[in-house]
Amino acid sequence: MINVAVLGYGTVGSGVVEVIEQNKAIVNKKSAAELNVKYILDLREFPGDPYEDKIVHDVNVILEDEEVSIVCEVMGGVGAAYQFTKQALEKGKSVCTSNKELVAKHGPELLELAKANNCNYLFEASVGGGIPIIRPLNASLTAEKIEAITGILNGTTNYILSKMEKEGADFAEVLKEAQDKGYAERNPEADVEGHDACRKIAILSSLMMGKNVDSEKIVTEGITKVTAADFMYAKAAGCTIKLFGMSKALSDDEVLAMVAPFMISKEHPLAMVNDVFNAVFVTGNMLGDSMYYGRGAGKLPTASAVVSDVVDCARHQGKSILCFWDKEEVKLADVAETEKAFYVRATADAKAEIEAAFPGGKVLTVEDRSKDFGYFTPVMKEKDFAAKCEKLGDKVLSKIRLA
Ligand code: HSE
Repeated sequence: MINVAVLGYGTVGSGVVEVIEQNKAIVNKKSAAELNVKYILDLREFPGDPYEDKIVHDVNVILEDEEVSIVCEVMGGVGAAYQFTKQALEKGKSVCTSNKELVAKHGPELLELAKANNCNYLFEASVGGGIPIIRPLNASLTAEKIEAITGILNGTTNYILSKMEKEGADFAEVLKEAQDKGYAERNPEADVEGHDACRKIAILSSLMMGKNVDSEKIVTEGITKVTAADFMYAKAAGCTIKLFGMSKALSDDEVLAMVAPFMISKEHPLAMVNDVFNAVFVTGNMLGDSMYYGRGAGKLPTASAVVSDVVDCARHQGKSILCFWDKEEVKLADVAETEKAFYVRATADAKAEIEAAFPGGKVLTVEDRSKDFGYFTPVMKEKDFAAKCEKLGDKVLSKIRLA
């Protein structure tokens, strides 16, 4: 029997217990052992809960119990979760987590600690919820030099953008509806400002490079400035708007990474990823393109990924699974120096100025919109585009990168 402890009995924690219980036969078979949830750590009481008798309030009960060999950290945050993870690994207990903030911030240190103690720190659920993406990068695409990763990595923002497109509604209106339905957090900042996607692309980029990509250095823009009008011009051009986390290896030591809304052709493989779904598009030098699609959030999909890590730990008891994510920092390329085309929406009276500022571009029009117009610039440096927009001031109403 392999004893498991779950740290945090919230949405994902209760999902982990449910997956282990409901899929007991298959999970045990694939673990080649019987998994037993021995403890659930939470500050709260759960009177009447079927697992009430497993609730403990003191982490030391778990840390001191030599029978516990796998810990699921699904508390979130980088305070207690960091301390408990370190303590568990130091005692040789493997840790499986959905905590992308902690993985992005302390991944290499925790992996090193796991290795030193012949156990594992696994984080399949930290990116893309239930979509297998960490294991494919770490264990499946091992014959590949990964060249680029682009993903729709946040379910909340993808839901909001999909609704804006479908209903012609503005950001604030859709956000409120998403909050009322429980799809978006009451404090949605981490999602809508792109921080959540940033942590996820930092994790994927680190695995792509085999070295650390600092999430705090990644240029990050959210979706709060995207409007219903932008979707109208996107539609007129056969495009849609998606929040991308993207990363491209420029050399063994340098990566170009960013999180931002992009206007993309409806033909783009990521254009069909709608609602709360996520997808990760990976380009390898031998395989070419591959795409991983599925539910990027939610109780059972996320819990399923955590439990898949528990199964992996059960299969590798006393043995550390190789994971290439070194502490050494990767250089982040200066986004301002990179080139791309841009969409701008500007006031109708500024047409001549826009055409003069970005010669050779394309005007987009939408019936019934007389006060503004859309424009695709030619390919140009980000810094030149920004300087021109600054000069145009209030005449530029929206700007979105093209991909
Ligand atoms: N808030 C995240 C999302 C949850 O909306 O994708 C999953 O990481």
